[in-house]
Amino acid sequence: MPETTERPPVIVPALAVGLGASIAMWAAWYVMHMPGIDAPRSAGVPVMGALLVLCVLLGVASGGRGGRPGWLVGLLAGLVSGALNLILLLSNLVEQATATDQLGATANQLQPGAPLVIVSFVGACMVAGTLAGAVGGVLGRRGPRLSAQAWLGRLGVVAAASFLPLLVAGGAVTGTESAMAVPDPVTSYGSVSFLFPLSLMGEDRIFFEHAHRLLGSLVGLVTLIWAIATTVVDRRGSMKLAVWLAFVLVVVQGALGALRVGENSVALALAHGVFGQITFMVAVGVAAAQRQSYIEAPSLVGDATRSAARRAGKLALFAVIAVLIQLVFGAMYRHMGSTHALYSHIGWSFVVMVLVIITGSLCMKTDKSDRGGRPLRLAGVFMHAIVTWQFVLGWLALWQVPPSEKARPIPTAEQLPTAHDIEAMEAIITTAHQASGALVLAAATLGLVWARRLARNRVGDTT
Ligand code: HEM
Ligand code: HEM
Repeated sequence: MPETTERPPVIVPALAVGLGASIAMWAAWYVMHMPGIDAPRSAGVPVMGALLVLCVLLGVASGGRGGRPGWLVGLLAGLVSGALNLILLLSNLVEQATATDQLGATANQLQPGAPLVIVSFVGACMVAGTLAGAVGGVLGRRGPRLSAQAWLGRLGVVAAASFLPLLVAGGAVTGTESAMAVPDPVTSYGSVSFLFPLSLMGEDRIFFEHAHRLLGSLVGLVTLIWAIATTVVDRRGSMKLAVWLAFVLVVVQGALGALRVGENSVALALAHGVFGQITFMVAVGVAAAQRQSYIEAPSLVGDATRSAARRAGKLALFAVIAVLIQLVFGAMYRHMGSTHALYSHIGWSFVVMVLVIITGSLCMKTDKSDRGGRPLRLAGVFMHAIVTWQFVLGWLALWQVPPSEKARPIPTAEQLPTAHDIEAMEAIITTAHQASGALVLAAATLGLVWARRLARNRVGDTT
């Protein structure tokens, strides 16, 4: 890690650490409340508390102190995390209802003791963050002092990672046929989305649809914060533009999701599925280009690496395009049951395999003694591993949803009490295939972005 004498504004490390902790905690909340797991309520505080402490401690320790006291970074990270986790807590603090049709009068009303719980909760997050940050600061005191740009690079990784639980949750909405379980596109059964009672999430399909919307809001907030931080910290105009583009894509994606529900449109479901992965791809590309290692890379590689990167870069573009085409075929079968699209998807998977494997091999061919080429070599390894896994998952997905069993009706809100049971195995395998398809796209994008960077001749080029 590069050493710097500059002291970054304390808010940048605090945001990277605090948002990272929040995403881990939201993902844990999702898993703990998932049908079939339904963890006991008493597990919430210890699990969430442990995650917050661990993330802040590791975040502060691994990043040095950023030139700021560890306890202060921890305190602010605790505040950020407390504020974001409040969104989840609110579902516990509103008046609970036993059925969606009884929500009317009590909708959006907090329980009498709620303000006290809110203050205590955020306070507890700040105290835990302060203590964890102080310990992390001591553990990391010998570590290098990172620049504001290096911390922004970490914030970018956190922002891109925030898409992963959202993509899985989106896939689960489709895989469990929950798309229409919450009939109103912006509110949830008339309730402000953040104030929808936890008791009503006991219905499996309502949980999947509503939790996906909550995660969508989280990603929207995280991307907005990332865009603002980039505008302040990153000196490159192209990066400011790119990160705001990522934010606009997230907003459009949210609007597509709402429209899909409002119009009850399968075509919009398909568009939403495809566009979600493209949005993730852009976030991954922008996050990669914000890394300190990316900025310094051209000065750390020799001619052998440069020419290997040039070859990899050319093929990586075709690999990305091939994966995008594959995604569209997959989505056409997933949402419309088109067998023609399925056969195209299976046939095209061989083209994807060949392109991604060869691109991955070219990425790994950079000179091993060049430190700057390491991220490209890692992208190559990632490509090989994830595309192979994805190919295997594809056959498992086909076994679960062969054309003969593809007709899967999506129950409306009124049909929920009598709807068919969720096929757990089918939902898990198809969701895994859909989400790891996003990772194939991410791997190919990383290969493309890094190969093009290393192929540059101009040493010290910072764009
Ligand atoms: C903001 C970021 C969002 C992202 C990245 C995202 C991503 C996704 C993804 C990847 C899927 C799976 C599609 C598939 O399996 O083909 C999905 C499904 C879905 N999403 Fe989102 N989503 C977002 C926001 C929203 C919002 C705000 C809503 C509703 C208000 C929404 C409603 C839905 C619905 C209803 C489905 C199921 C579509 C179906 O299978 O018919 N999404 N989402
Ligand atoms: C190796 C490259 C592959 C990639 C990148 C890939 C990607 C994807 C993606 C992203 C989706 C979900 C699209 C969406 O709705 O958003 C999907 C769906 C699907 N894929 Fe693949 N796939 C690959 C290989 C395969 C193979 C080899 C098979 C089967 C032999 C297969 C079978 C399926 C099936 C059956 C679905 C629909 C699942 C459902 O209806 O829920 N895939 N694929």
